[in-house]
Amino acid sequence: MSTIQTIVDLIYLLAAALFVMGLHLMNSPATARKGSQFSVVGMVLAICATLAYLIDAGGVTTTGWVVLSVGFAIGTLVGLRSADKVKMTDIPQLVSIFNAVGGGAAALVALTDFVHDKNLHVAAIGPTPAVATALDVLIGAVTFTGSIIAAGKLQGLISGSPIIIPGSKIINTILTVVGVGSAAFLFTGAVNTNVLILLLVAALLFGITLVLPIGGADMPVVISLLNAFTGTAVAMAGFVIDSSALIIAGALVGASGTILTKLMADAMNRSIPNIMIGGFGQGDTAAVAAGAVSGNIKQLSADDAAIQLSYAQKVIFVPGYGLAAAQAQRELKDLSQLLEDRGVEVLFAIHPVAGRMPGHMNVLLAEVDVPYTQLYEMEAANLEFPTADVALVIGANDVINPAARRPGNAISGMPILDVDKAKNVIVIKRSMGQGYAGIDNELYLDEKTSMFFADGKKGLASISAAVRELVTD
Ligand code: TAP
Repeated sequence: MSTIQTIVDLIYLLAAALFVMGLHLMNSPATARKGSQFSVVGMVLAICATLAYLIDAGGVTTTGWVVLSVGFAIGTLVGLRSADKVKMTDIPQLVSIFNAVGGGAAALVALTDFVHDKNLHVAAIGPTPAVATALDVLIGAVTFTGSIIAAGKLQGLISGSPIIIPGSKIINTILTVVGVGSAAFLFTGAVNTNVLILLLVAALLFGITLVLPIGGADMPVVISLLNAFTGTAVAMAGFVIDSSALIIAGALVGASGTILTKLMADAMNRSIPNIMIGGFGQGDTAAVAAGAVSGNIKQLSADDAAIQLSYAQKVIFVPGYGLAAAQAQRELKDLSQLLEDRGVEVLFAIHPVAGRMPGHMNVLLAEVDVPYTQLYEMEAANLEFPTADVALVIGANDVINPAARRPGNAISGMPILDVDKAKNVIVIKRSMGQGYAGIDNELYLDEKTSMFFADGKKGLASISAAVRELVTD
C-alpha cells in the first residue's frame, strides 16, 4: 500500500469520527450548529482524500476528469443555491429530492460497476459483490422514484391524498416477486445484465407504487424512511466499490434515519410495518370531517388577549405550522419578552411533529434566540398545562386536536399537547380551517377557548402592541 493510500485511509477514519461526533452534537439544539459544522468538515476531508486517492491510483482518463469536474461543479452550485434559497417550510421537499439523488447515484454506482466488471472479467464476479450490487440497485432505485413522488406530493404537484392505483395489490405482488426473484438470482454470482435491468425496472416501479397510496399525516415518516433507505443504498455502494468512507457514511445515515423514523412513527402513533404495507393516513375522517364539529365560537380582540396574558402568572406558547407559514417567530419572541418583563412565567411547548419537518419549531425559535431552557418537549409540557393560566396557540392544529384521543379518525392515537388542560386557551389562526390531517378541531369550540382570527405575524404584533399600551396606561 502506497504512503498516499495510507494517508487517505487515515483521513477517511478522521472523517468518520467527525461524522459520528457531528451526529452526537446534533442531539441538542444548543450544539446542533457545531454538529453540522463538524459533519461539513468531515465531508470536505472525505472528498479531498478521494481526489488524492484517484490521482495516486491513476486510471482516470481525461474524459473521466472532465466528467468528474463538471459533475462536481454542477452539484456544488445546485446544492449551495437550493440550500440558500429554500424556504424553511419547503425543507422536507428538498430533503426528499436529496434522498432521490443519493439513492439514484448509489444505484448508478452499482450498475456501472457491474457492467464494467462484466466487461473486464466475463467470468462470474463472485457472490459477495453480487449481493451488494443487487441490494444497492434494489434499494437505490426504490428510493429514487419513491422520493420523487414524495417530493411531488409535498410540493402539491401530485395530490397529497392517498392515490390508489386499480389492481395495486396484484401489481405490487408481481413487482415484489420479480424484484426479489432477480435479486436472489444475482446473489448466486450470476453475471447477467438483463436480470439486473429487470431488477432495476421492478424497483423503480415499486418506489412509485409504494409512496402513491400514502397521504395525510404520515408523509414525514415516509421521508425519514426513504432517508434511511438512501443511507443503506450508499453503504451497499461502498461495498460494491470497496470504499470504507461510503460504507461508514451510508451506515450512519441508514442507522440515524431508521431511529428517526421510529421516533416519528411513535410520535404519530403509526407502526412502521403499517407504513411499509401502505394504506395508512386513511383513518375514517368522516367522524370529524369538515363541518362535523359545530357550536359557538368565542372570539376575542387583541386588547382582551393582552389583558389575559399580562395578568397571568404562567403562559405556555404552543407554536405550530402556522407560525412557520407566517414567519412570526420574531413577533412571538417579542411578546414573550414583554410578558417576562411583566413577571409572567413563559414556556414554549414543542410537539415532535409540529410544523412540517422534525425539529421545525426548535429551529424557528432558535433563530430568534429563545433560550433552550424555555423549550418544553411534549411530555414535559403536558405536565405544565394544568398549572398554566393561558395556553396561547399560534397556528397549531393537529398537534393539539383532542380528536386524537378517540378512535376512528386520521390522527387517532397520536400523542397531543394537552392544551385543553390549561385554564384558558387563546388560538391565533386565520379561520376555522383544518390542519395537515384535514380534520376539524373541537378545541376551538371549547368554552375555555377564545379564537383570535388573524395571520400569525400580524396577530402577535397587535397583541404585543396592546400589551405595551397596558404598560404605559
Ligand atoms: P397543522 O395541523 O398543519 O395546522 C396548521 C394551522 O396553521 C392551520 O390550521 C392553519 O389554519 C394555520 N395557519 C396557516 N397559515 C397561517 C398563518 N399565516 N397565520 C396563522 N395561522 C396559520 O399544524 P400543526 O398543528 O403544527 O401540525 C403539524 C401537522 O403536519 C401534523 O399533522 C403532522 O403530522 C404533519 N406533518 C408534520 C411534519 C413534521 S416532521 N413536523 C412533516 C409533514 C407533515 P388557518 O388556515 O385557519 O390559518
